[in-house]
Amino acid sequence: MRFAKPYRYEDECESTQLLLGPNDPEGAVAVADYQSAGRGRLGRSWVAPPGTAIHVSVLLRPPPGRKIAQLSLLGGLAAAEAVDEELDLWRSTQIKWPNDVMVNRRKVAGVLAEAREGAVVLGIGINVNQTRDQLPADARQPTGSLRTADGREHDRNAVLDDLLARLERLYAAWLEGGLDAVYHDLGARDFLRGRRVRVDGLDGIAEGVDREGRLIVSGQAIESGEVEYER
Ligand code: BTN
Repeated sequence: MRFAKPYRYEDECESTQLLLGPNDPEGAVAVADYQSAGRGRLGRSWVAPPGTAIHVSVLLRPPPGRKIAQLSLLGGLAAAEAVDEELDLWRSTQIKWPNDVMVNRRKVAGVLAEAREGAVVLGIGINVNQTRDQLPADARQPTGSLRTADGREHDRNAVLDDLLARLERLYAAWLEGGLDAVYHDLGARDFLRGRRVRVDGLDGIAEGVDREGRLIVSGQAIESGEVEYER
């Protein structure tokens, strides 16, 4: 199965998550330059000025019984690899479970997996060319862009193409072998491991992500949630 057939592009839309529906084939892709009502996790908004960021959604049809939350991890891994490639880094772009992509302790990308009548719309937003004052002031954690990371402007199309190629490969590997197929690569980029964290009222040390994709905090497996961490 190849991604981007069809490939839908809009200069402006509410959210690329809404440009794909259950009638689209697996691998359909929607991209927008600007989102007027971009969605983040947990009902939050996702905002970027026109011409600065990547907003992409992909329609997937994972087999029944597969955990949708694992697709967030796959999306984060694809984004982390694409960011590494663009910034000339070697595995230093990290994933803060479950879906934040971090460079130099700043969130540069996020992933949102939404279930849609038997399908999943996987949305990825990457902050590419925002200057510091164009980034949302996020009280929960510092944000960044590829530009604030290395001081250079980047070609969004090149990063997008690379991201989609990586996601296509990772998804094929996951279909074949489950999370085990990407488990080592995820572990190598774990931002939280070893940090003191708080999630769902539980305080403890993050020990890593298990083979189901759950975060282990002081021996307890967490299925989903928002993790606060000590900086
Ligand atoms: C998060 O970190 O909270 C998730 C952010 C996901 C943003 C992307 S941008 C493309 C797609 N369209 C949306 O409205 N949201 C996702």
